[in-house]
Amino acid sequence: MRRRHTGSEGAAYSKDFAEFFAGIGLVHLGLQPSGWRCVYANDIEPKKHAMYEAQFGRAAHYHLEDIWNTDAVAGRLAKAPFLATASFPCVDLSLAGHWRGIDGEHSSTYFGFLKVLERMRRERPKVVMLENVCGFLTSRKGADFQRALGGLAELGYWVDAIVLDAKWFVPQSRPRLFVFGFHDTLDSPLVIRRREGLALDDPWAMAVDRTAVVRPNGLLSLSDRTYLPTGWATVAFPPPQRMEYRLLEVIDLDDSQEWWSDEETSRHYEMMETPSKRRVDELIGSGDRAIGAAFRRTRRGQTRCEVRFDLAGCLRTPKGGSAKQIVVAVVGGKLRMRWMSAREYARLQGAGEFNITVPPLQAMYGFGDAVCVPAVRWIDRHILTPVFESHSAALPAHAAPASA
Ligand SMILES: C[S@@+](CC[C@H](N)C(=O)[O-])C[C@H]1O[C@@H](n2cnc3c(N)ncnc32)[C@H](O)[C@@H]1O
Repeated sequence: MRRRHTGSEGAAYSKDFAEFFAGIGLVHLGLQPSGWRCVYANDIEPKKHAMYEAQFGRAAHYHLEDIWNTDAVAGRLAKAPFLATASFPCVDLSLAGHWRGIDGEHSSTYFGFLKVLERMRRERPKVVMLENVCGFLTSRKGADFQRALGGLAELGYWVDAIVLDAKWFVPQSRPRLFVFGFHDTLDSPLVIRRREGLALDDPWAMAVDRTAVVRPNGLLSLSDRTYLPTGWATVAFPPPQRMEYRLLEVIDLDDSQEWWSDEETSRHYEMMETPSKRRVDELIGSGDRAIGAAFRRTRRGQTRCEVRFDLAGCLRTPKGGSAKQIVVAVVGGKLRMRWMSAREYARLQGAGEFNITVPPLQAMYGFGDAVCVPAVRWIDRHILTPVFESHSAALPAHAAPASA
């Protein structure tokens, strides 16, 4: 039985969400366990849609459409869901897209999303969650962030922003900016709005201070310089705790993996910087087992192989050899190397059980572009579900929840 409740405009809410820029659906995977139901998903890429359906089954709610086709997209959303998520394309907010910025061909789709929200005049989602790379903070010296959040605030949203790194949950370094919009009509005692004339015992300031670990200085100072017609708001969530994990747990070591020949392994060993070579030599000498991950990069005109033994670097879409992750394994006094598999990519995104039915490169493309599932679960546990439930609890008696 699903809980429903009446919104302040008289419409009934279920624990429903719409996933914009849905890709292969890892936001969906993160929200599903606590009972969120995806009523609408949108993406333009048929290959991602194929992966999504392999995992979630035939999905009539998945709308393959350009977000800029506002009428077609908004037309499919007869009723506003409680939550809308948008992991809009990051390429123009990074070196890969030459820092073209939020007006770039890909990242400007964010404004397509805002147009869809704008079209929902009568009632908008109560909560919006955006996800993107941290380059969103530095793009055009912060002007892109200011304009993007200003646009969200103009639609009636009070805003919060945090940087959550996948490394809190899985052995992958993947810091991502998450922005939350709490609509003015959201009736939740958990949402703490920043007041004018900040005092030290202000509840908003205390909640923000308590979570300093997800609020780097660059984000705080940019937020201070960002004018919002609504304002800043937060929810008093706890700082994340680092999970126990090891890279070894996500890497397969059996002989059926496509390990490189000794020649290819030696070639990559020679590409390592001296400290990495020394570390590999020590591990080989000690007989200890160690698993690392590497990328190929061009440094000073030379291809280098950069290894780390604590975490994998941030997964990326594997367009060329330099964007693909390499497994570096020292086992039984021997160095073995190979490309990381699609299944390992899935595990590094916390989606180890994902039903992969497409060719490996297509799957890695999907996972490299996606969001880390346990990061979404953490956000859901501490922000999204509590806000949904408190909005429900705050309703007057005559609008008490009814069964669907
Ligand atoms: C960063 S990825 C989001 C990935 C997603 N969160 C996941 O878990 O797979 C951005 C997505 O935006 C989609 N996209 C790009 N341009 C679009 C457009 N004009 N309309 C709709 N979707 C678009 C891409 O196909 C891509 O899947």
